[in-house]
Amino acid sequence: MTVIMNGNELSKKIKENLRLRATKLKEQNIEPSLVVVLVGEDPASQVYVRNKTRAAEQIGINAIDIRLPETTTEAEILDLIAKYNADETVHGILVQLPLPKHINEDRITQAISPLKDVDGFHPVNMGHLFMNEPLALPCTPHGIMEFFKEYNIDVTGKNAVVIGRSNIVGRPMAALLLNANATVTVTHSRTQNLKEIAREADILVVAIGRGEFVDADYVKEGAVVIDVGMNRNAAGKLVGDVDFASVNGKAGYLTPVPRGVGPMTIAMLMQQTIEFAERSLN
Ligand SMILES: NC(=O)c1ccc[n+]([C@@H]2O[C@H](COP(=O)([O-])OP(=O)(O)OC[C@H]3O[C@@H](n4cnc5c(N)ncnc54)[C@H](OP(=O)(O)O)[C@@H]3O)[C@@H](O)[C@H]2O)c1
Repeated sequence: MTVIMNGNELSKKIKENLRLRATKLKEQNIEPSLVVVLVGEDPASQVYVRNKTRAAEQIGINAIDIRLPETTTEAEILDLIAKYNADETVHGILVQLPLPKHINEDRITQAISPLKDVDGFHPVNMGHLFMNEPLALPCTPHGIMEFFKEYNIDVTGKNAVVIGRSNIVGRPMAALLLNANATVTVTHSRTQNLKEIAREADILVVAIGRGEFVDADYVKEGAVVIDVGMNRNAAGKLVGDVDFASVNGKAGYLTPVPRGVGPMTIAMLMQQTIEFAERSLN
């Protein structure tokens, strides 16, 4: 039997706890504040930003929602970031990606102070993560580690395979698993014998952006399968990178899409904001 890991329930529990922490901060005259910048009209980004600001409001985080037109220049965004980097009442800054093509995303990511980098994308924070001295964690892989905790899955010594090597998911996921003493293999589009490698995994994390790509043939009996993907299939339905129907019954644990990794990503973003606000007390 496959245990379906419920990201909705777990994220709710985490957000309840964050609400208490936000209240405590307010009692000490700190209002946790998160700046969320959205440039342009990308519909998916609009939904993500709405979900993030809504979660912030539920928890008691002051969400400063900044919408800028598609024509905004890189210099204007950098000025805005510099302003909020210097503002002590702001604890977290997030610029929703992707940005319009005329803006250099790396330059924007690197302009955010590592101390306010709630996404954990800044190279300084990535470096700390890879040295196993993390200051901020990328939200999606962090949320996945919370699943392991919640379901008492000890990754120590386990064979973990990550499919995908993006800076926001695959690479930091590999670092977190390694820091937790798993034996980690990172695979990608040039990997040979992917299926054979995946079939050796006790823990399989799939983040490739290809709808229902990983079926039961990639999965060892009883493995933990984490599906990060969010794709629209031909019928317009939201599907993961894992073929849920095929893997369900073979995996020991499986995250669904939706209601799996997605809500955990947002919960971890909120947690990082609260942690930064708590750090500002010291
Ligand atoms: N639920 C959430 O909160 C959340 C958060 C972030 C992302 N996502 C979703 O997760 C998915 C991945 O996102 P991402 O940003 O990591 O994507 P990305 O930047 O496009 O990276 C995809 C990675 O998958 C690899 N890949 C592509 N096709 C492959 C194949 N056939 N076999 C093996 N590897 C393959 C690529 O290899 P190369 O490096 O060789 O090109 C690349 O490393 C997307 O569906 C995205 O929407 C969800």
